[in-house]
Amino acid sequence: MRRSRTLIISIAAAAAVALATAAVPAVGGWRSTAPQDQSLRALAGEHGLYIGTAIDVGALDDPTYAKIASTQFSTVTAENVMKWDTLEPERGVYKWELADEFMAFAKANHQKVRGHVLVWQNQLPKWLTDGVTDGSISSADLSQLLHDYITTVVKHFEGQVWQWDVVNEAVTDSWDSPAGQITYKGFWYQHLGEGYIADAFRWARSADREALLTYNDYNIDAFGDGGPLDKTEFVFQMVKSLRQKGVPIDVVGSQAHLSTRYGNYSPFQIADMLDRFATLGVATALTEVDVRNLMPQVVTGDTINPLLQAQAYDFSALMQGCLSSRHCLSYTVWGFDDGHSWTNTWDFGLGKGAERMATLYTADYQPKLAYSAVQADLAYSGAPRVLSRIPQQPKR
Ligand code: XIL
Repeated sequence: MRRSRTLIISIAAAAAVALATAAVPAVGGWRSTAPQDQSLRALAGEHGLYIGTAIDVGALDDPTYAKIASTQFSTVTAENVMKWDTLEPERGVYKWELADEFMAFAKANHQKVRGHVLVWQNQLPKWLTDGVTDGSISSADLSQLLHDYITTVVKHFEGQVWQWDVVNEAVTDSWDSPAGQITYKGFWYQHLGEGYIADAFRWARSADREALLTYNDYNIDAFGDGGPLDKTEFVFQMVKSLRQKGVPIDVVGSQAHLSTRYGNYSPFQIADMLDRFATLGVATALTEVDVRNLMPQVVTGDTINPLLQAQAYDFSALMQGCLSSRHCLSYTVWGFDDGHSWTNTWDFGLGKGAERMATLYTADYQPKLAYSAVQADLAYSGAPRVLSRIPQQPKR
């Protein structure tokens, strides 16, 4: 008895010495990495959150672009090369090269893929839209073509896509709803009626049992007054009714293309939006975050730069909202540098390229204030209000 007690005591003493020794840093040795020296990817990983970017495949030849894309982000979305006009430029002839190049990049860098996009009214091949216009493609043909396209594409990437954007931008906005209420819109609705939405989700599920299936839209970052012109409310009711019918929809994606001219969002509005969607049993994602800028650009002396501050605030409000909602799975920016942002050439109503500088990095890859705001949100958030993500399982 006595002997073994002595043994236990000496083992405990030795362990205590070992622990104490380990805790003393060697001279010039261990030092924790400061949060500002950690990648967004590493910091987001501590929350179980995926942080992503859209990838311009043509820019991957630029080593700086490729380095930032691979080290800062844990999920990627193809900005253009998984759209119908790229994948099936001629009827029945699929071109996988660019999409496969994108998928290989993601795989090499251990990144999850958001597949973008199966059903959308933009970037459709000409043979398809022309065929519908000249009557050579009937509604029945169109539905069959959509089925075949979804099945072919989802099968091609089966097992490699985490979240698919199945249906994108299917409803109107308050400014293009002349009847005074939000409704369905676009090519697919005009030719097939709203039933194409449920069909698309079901066809996608049949082709890949594991991918999470997303409804994705813009201008749904916050709920409004709940009235007929509240787009977020319309999408909420749409998703609710799809879920009630057993349609396999797993995620609602809020694109979150913001601009400083849209006024002040608070993190609480974003959190409320995400939490309310989660009550439907779906997860959420911020899928195309950028913040275009219309703030004064000339700043003198040491004054606060309103352009950078305003933009950083919106990036941060979105990040804080996402962090606070445990069903918010990913936060993806739509391009990470001002040199490769669609805002440089897109017309948002004020002329092409009028609102830009929408990303986290300058065109010469210097991180902007928005970058450190997002980095700090990730570094300094935690319990009691920020807890790790709740993973989403595909609905059967
Ligand atoms: C944009 C791309 O960024 C541009 O390069 C392209 O010319 C047009 O499409 N919503 C979406 C994205 O779902 O696919 C769009 O991407 C941006 C708006």
